[in-house]
Amino acid sequence: MRIIQAANYDELSARAAEILVAQVLLKPKSVLGLATGSTPVGAYQKMAEVCRAGRVSFSECHTVNLDEYVGLGPGDEQSYHTFMWENLFSHIDIPAEHTNLPDGKNLDAAAECARYDKVIADFGAIDIQILGIGHNGHIAFNEPADYFAAGTHHVELDESTIEANRRFFSSREEVPKSAYSMGLAPILHAKRVLLMVSGEAKADVLYKSLTGPITPQVPASILQLHSDLIVIADEAAAGKLA
Ligand code: PGA
Repeated sequence: MRIIQAANYDELSARAAEILVAQVLLKPKSVLGLATGSTPVGAYQKMAEVCRAGRVSFSECHTVNLDEYVGLGPGDEQSYHTFMWENLFSHIDIPAEHTNLPDGKNLDAAAECARYDKVIADFGAIDIQILGIGHNGHIAFNEPADYFAAGTHHVELDESTIEANRRFFSSREEVPKSAYSMGLAPILHAKRVLLMVSGEAKADVLYKSLTGPITPQVPASILQLHSDLIVIADEAAAGKLA
């Protein structure tokens, strides 16, 4: 595990973008595992700047996203599909058909989870997977549970996750209560994992995840088993790490 400490969110975003751009320069046909949430937004902006300046091209990359709300999809303002287009895909030169998310509009959960697992499996392995972490230790929407879920699954969101996501919706009632989430197997099989963590509110859970027991009650703790984990944390988030 490598821990990169950044002074603040801006530096964290710059470091993450440098790693992602380097990945694509070294392997233009990379499979990028992407995440939503506030944390990667700054890195996405910096990747777009480098692309606009003509210093990297994403035209041969493919992407797989971690999750999507059940019931939401393209055209829904709050869907992760829309989030990815607004924050990254519209600003880089990636072909739309190279981008992949679970289809939240497919209410046949078993069929959708199987479809998405096949999308991921057909790529072989993700070259680099970006992750944020939830206050409860979730990665993607792998919420604290009695077991680690290997494949894509339909998950009922934790109360704390619904509360955290509420800031993106006009009322709590509008926050979707379930999602399709990538499981932990493709994350562990990714050639490299880049965990981005910002802010004091994440310091406890980051410390627990990296130094505590490996338990499905703290899903991110399974990242201790990954052989190429890079953690980029700003000073506030890294506060509890020695
Ligand atoms: P955040 O979410 O980046 O918005 O803090 C991270 C997560 O819940 O995985």
